[in-house]
Parts: sequence; structure tokens; C-alpha cells
Amino acid sequence: MLAVQDLTKQFGGFVAVNRVSFAVEEGEILGLIGPNGSGKSTVFNVVAGTLPLTAGSVRFEGKEIGGLPPDQVCHRGIARTFQIPRPFKRLSLLENVAVSAFYGQNRDISRSRAWEQAEEALALVKLPTEATATVDALGAAGLKKLELARALATQPKLVLADESLGGLDEAEMEQAADMLQDIRRQKGITIIWVEHIMGVLMRVVDRVIVLDHGEKIAEGLPRAVAEDPRVIEVYLGRQGTAAAAAADAARPS
Ligand SMILES: Nc1ncnc2c1ncn2[C@@H]1O[C@H](COP(=O)(O)OP(=O)(O)OP(=O)(O)O)[C@@H](O)[C@H]1O
Ligand SMILES: [Mg+2]
Repeated sequence: MLAVQDLTKQFGGFVAVNRVSFAVEEGEILGLIGPNGSGKSTVFNVVAGTLPLTAGSVRFEGKEIGGLPPDQVCHRGIARTFQIPRPFKRLSLLENVAVSAFYGQNRDISRSRAWEQAEEALALVKLPTEATATVDALGAAGLKKLELARALATQPKLVLADESLGGLDEAEMEQAADMLQDIRRQKGITIIWVEHIMGVLMRVVDRVIVLDHGEKIAEGLPRAVAEDPRVIEVYLGRQGTAAAAAADAARPS
């Protein structure tokens, strides 16, 4: 579905992403992990067209999309969430999501259909669909759900979910993981899920890619990646035994 080849992104002389290649199969949940500053969000920003790429290629359903502006990438069927949610604070939850439905894949959408899509997206992430529900009632987990609902309302084939923001407790992270699995099951949407901590993600994803300093250092099944010496080295000292715990989480139960 998506083929990223030798993707490079420089900010001035600084190479934030260095010749990263990976592919995503339709229906997959791919985990993209790595320490703070390793280039995860930058990969998303380049694929989604938020930032121009320096070099490399991004192919979606066989067509080159590298360098397309974000609206055109979205119209092809790729939606993304932002690591730092910035909802329209004066609009209701439903209105926030309806805006995405209007600007999403279907450009000739009617007002009533946009509202239906918004309600459906809010229900998928288990947020209230009443017209009175407001943004200021949401905590960190709620804002993440709203981001996801806004992405889903564009009717995407592929969602790039940037979840790597602190502020969620263990139970909320488990919930987020279950939600992504539900979305794939119910809607058949392919997902790339970004995190900087490995724990819960490893239980849910089919495959994992690990970035460090803008380079891909590992790729494979969750358990094998969690036991990879380079991955353990990168994560050790930051999260102690996180890699071992993640390997346990990835073990089939
Ligand atoms: N717009 C920008 N201008 C300059 N440098 C940037 C820009 N965006 C990101 N960077 C730098 O590129 C590197 C990769 O950043 P990126 O945000 O992709 O990391 P990340 O893996 O998403 O980290 P985190 O887990 O903290 O979200 C960092 O060194 C960051 O400071
Ligand atoms: Mg990030």
C-alpha cells in the first residue's frame, strides 16, 4: 500500500531522517518507534506532505506522492493525527470532526453526510456525539481520541497515528491500543502507529520499525525487535528494562 524508499529529510545541515525505507501492507498495523528526536514525526510529516522531502520517494497504491501538498495526500486516502492536538476550541466536538469530513477524501460531500461521518468517527473513538459536547471537557486522552476522530472522518485508507505524547496512564494507553485494533477490524483501515515507548504498542502491532538518530536500526516482528541488541542498547538507560517487558508483551499468550 505504502512504499517509502530512501526517505531523507534535512533541516538546514541537520539530517533528521536519513535514507529510511519501509513498506506497509494493506490491513497491517505497523509500529514506528524510537527515542525522542529519532525522526518518527518527521517521517509522518513528510509522508503526509506537511514538510517537503529532501530526497527519496513515497509511493501510495503504486503512485508517487512524495512532495504533494497535505490536502492532496489526504484526498488520496492518507490521514494523520498530530502529536500535539490543536482542535478548534470554540467548535463542538462534532463540528471539529465535521470540518475533517468536509475536507477529506470525498470532496462533494453534503452537509448532512459530513455530519453523519463526524458522528460515526466520534463513535468509533468512543467520544460523545451530542452537539453540546465541547473540547474543554477533554483531557490528554480525550484530545488524542479527537485527533483520531478527525483523521477517520476524512474516510482514509491509511492512518498515520502519532501517539507519542506523554500524559496518558497505562490504562489509557491500553485503551488507545484496543481502539486502533477496533478501527482496523471494523473499517479495514491500515495503520502506522508512532510511539516512543515500546510497552503497549508491541502487543498490538504486526511489525515494528525502530528509528534512532534518523536511521532505521531494526525492523521485524515485535518479539524479535524487542530482543534485538541494537534496540536494547538504544532503549537502555532511557527506559531500563522496557525492551524486555515489550518482548514479554509481544509473546503470544
Ligand atoms: N521543523 C523542524 N525544524 C528543525 N528541526 C526539526 C524540525 N522538526 C523536527 N526537527 C528535529 O528533527 C529531529 C527529529 O524530530 P522528530 O520530531 O521527528 O522526532 P520524534 O522521533 O518524533 O521525537 P518524539 O518522540 O519526541 O516525538 C529532532 O532533532 C528535531 O529537533
Ligand atoms: Mg514526535
